[in-house]
Amino acid sequence: MTEPVPHTTARVLPSGIVLSVAENETVMAAAHRAGYYWPTICGGHARCARCVMEIEDGAEAMSEASDEERSTLRKIRGAFRPESERLACQTTLRADVTVRRRGVRPQEPRNQQ
Ligand code: FES
Repeated sequence: MTEPVPHTTARVLPSGIVLSVAENETVMAAAHRAGYYWPTICGGHARCARCVMEIEDGAEAMSEASDEERSTLRKIRGAFRPESERLACQTTLRADVTVRRRGVRPQEPRNQQ
């Protein structure tokens, strides 16, 4: 299997991590591929909203939200505000963006003894 070809970037504040995001790849999937932890409970199924990211710049560059994402944000965050927050596990990019999500960090090495 070949690596996805990066075509946009997502700068994540406050850490300053810059993720290369491939076409049709979600922001959270790009973080995982690059070895970063991104907060999640549901594992990327648009059910927990734990992955939510605040949009600093580039809302117009993000994919359309699915009905499932809209529903989850309304239920858990109280409203669907696509100009200010999106689910990182559902959002793909058409251009570079800057988002804010605390807790994004390098993953802990597994199997430490
Ligand atoms: S990881 Fe659960 S909604 Fe995105």
